[in-house]
Amino acid sequence: MKIVVMGAGAVGSLFGARLAEAGHAVLLVARPEHAAAVAAHGLTVRNRTETVVRLSATSELPPHLVADAALLTVKTFDLPSASHRLARSLDRPVPTLLPQNGLGFEEAVRASLTGGGWVDPAAWMVPAVNTVPATWIAPGVVRAAGTGEVLLPQAADPPTPGSPVGLFERVLREAGFPVRTVAEFDREVWRKLLVNAAINPVTAIRGVPNGRLLREPERSEALALLREALRTARACGHDFSETEAIADLDRIAQATAENRSSMLQDLDRGRPTEIESISGELVRRAAAHGLDLTATRAIAEEIRRRVVRSARRPQPS
Ligand code: PAF
Repeated sequence: MKIVVMGAGAVGSLFGARLAEAGHAVLLVARPEHAAAVAAHGLTVRNRTETVVRLSATSELPPHLVADAALLTVKTFDLPSASHRLARSLDRPVPTLLPQNGLGFEEAVRASLTGGGWVDPAAWMVPAVNTVPATWIAPGVVRAAGTGEVLLPQAADPPTPGSPVGLFERVLREAGFPVRTVAEFDREVWRKLLVNAAINPVTAIRGVPNGRLLREPERSEALALLREALRTARACGHDFSETEAIADLDRIAQATAENRSSMLQDLDRGRPTEIESISGELVRRAAAHGLDLTATRAIAEEIRRRVVRSARRPQPS
């Protein structure tokens, strides 16, 4: 199959590499320095060993792109423009995977795909909850930084192999990713949101890998954020017990102990972060239920300040 990975940073590149190894013709659409390095030398994936995977890469979408499926792996703040450009470039709508963190972006993607010429874009969009971690090392080099899985929404009827969900279920599994389809997909989105709300801001502010959240003082900071997110989840109708939410946090912190969270990687690279679709969205939804998330609001403010400060620093290319 021809698969385009739009926004190939750490996670998109890792997914692209595994899909290419499984025999698909993968095109990474990435920032110029990464695309140039991959096109020239292949993509190096570090794990315990180091593998070089040959695949196509570009920084410019061609005008008449032919593909059978797309992975939209840009960060949430880039989704509207990236989905619009993808729809304009592809010769027809294709099943499109959306493995983003956070909430509240699907409507914007739908509108952008429609603006790019797709009729009924929702029929092609496959939201996913991804916990497979990846770390950006340098242009052309990423690290597979632990274990995770990909959750997909279970269709009301069992998905057929040709349906968008069925297609991603098959190709991702064949490429070696643990994949599960889940009936209560929204609940799983919230489950991941609880974890991201606790892990991402604390690791980003403290500059530490995820595993540090298993120790003090980071643990108490993460737990305070987790409890606020949990109150919001309950107010929004998603009931998780505190024991369950802490167990999820510990499991993911352990499984991705060596990983630098995506928010920390963004701050490191002087890029915008997903703070709005994670903590910002929680604060807004909590407020709609009369709740004030003091710790979440404060850490989100600090992240916003850091983004502004790091954007002013000269950035490595
Ligand atoms: O955003 C991230 O970094 C990831 O969602 C996760 C699972 C927290 C691993 O680092």
